[in-house]
Amino acid sequence: MMLNDLYGRQLTGPNVLNAHFQNMKTTLDTLYDLKPSLEKAEETKDIYEKMDRVVPKAEWARFAPYVIAINRLKKERNAVILAHNYMTPEIYHGVADFVGDSLELAMKAANVKEDVIVQCGVHFMAETSKILSPEKMVLIPDVEAGCSLAESITAEGVAEMRAQYPGAPVVSYVNTTAEVKAASDVCCTSSNALKIVEAQDSDLVIMTPDQFLAQNVAAQSSKKIVFWAGSCIVHELYTAQDLRDYRESEPDLKIIAHPECTPEVVAEADFTGSTRGIINWVTENKPAKAMLVTECSMAANISDSLPEVEFAKPCNMCPYMKKISLEKILWSLHTMEPQVEVDPEISKRARLSVQRMLDLS
Ligand code: 13P
Ligand code: SF4
Repeated sequence: MMLNDLYGRQLTGPNVLNAHFQNMKTTLDTLYDLKPSLEKAEETKDIYEKMDRVVPKAEWARFAPYVIAINRLKKERNAVILAHNYMTPEIYHGVADFVGDSLELAMKAANVKEDVIVQCGVHFMAETSKILSPEKMVLIPDVEAGCSLAESITAEGVAEMRAQYPGAPVVSYVNTTAEVKAASDVCCTSSNALKIVEAQDSDLVIMTPDQFLAQNVAAQSSKKIVFWAGSCIVHELYTAQDLRDYRESEPDLKIIAHPECTPEVVAEADFTGSTRGIINWVTENKPAKAMLVTECSMAANISDSLPEVEFAKPCNMCPYMKKISLEKILWSLHTMEPQVEVDPEISKRARLSVQRMLDLS
């Protein structure tokens, strides 16, 4: 990844990113009219109505100038913003052209018509977009938006698993680097993991890198599953005892979990699914009280469309997803950086794994 300053000079060195983001806001302020503005808040009231239960009006007056600037620049650059369901409401409702879970984002990335994809999510999602649309420019507003699962395994780790279980196919979660995807037989997401595992022509299947997703799939699968011991730092924090305590104090509470949670937590849940699965379940069932055992922005993003549902806390924040902000999106569109690149040889092999998943989905 290369970062350039406003004059096109290449920036290098370990502190470059921090210095870069410190200067970013000051520079943007001189180039765009980004002062908090009640007038701009009024101009964008149709957008604000989608989040007025969760975003205070004064806060929207601060966001609105960015939303206007981003939406204008997006058109000039012929860019599309693909945003994950964990983005904050001002991104999710304010500037995203398409929102979804990992599978939906990958499917969309394979078919965008615009020249530029701005990936509002984490790095592996941007890499997946680049793998599926290598001819497009893919931007990620903060290259440090990583993922504890993607960081937990390398291609060597996959090779170790293959050596330990010769002949067993490797199903890797999309929450992995391009190198790991390239070293795997097929990818999966939280919404299709069981289907992908069941489709393997082997009684023994290796799943990487999420130990809990693997165990949750194993509980429903006819296959024997061996797995890598990675985990999501957001979902592993929930405990089954906490959920039992919440349910005892709120007997009507519906508990909805993501499959990156432990099997004990999943066993306590009324429903388990991908972020899209969770949104669909709550939208269809409209429980009086729901606890989303996942990232905090999920409840915030659907609160306004479901006024009859009271969303119970706690939720946990993903520090990687939260690195993406309106300021960084505007900066990214302004500078057309940082661009996500994948080595062509790795990309070709990784694409096979992702494409096999899409074909099976
Ligand atoms: P989904 O595919 O369910 O959106 O999950 C992605 C993710 O990173 C959840 O932590
Ligand atoms: Fe990765 Fe967990 Fe954050 Fe999802 S929530 S991006 S799995 S760290």
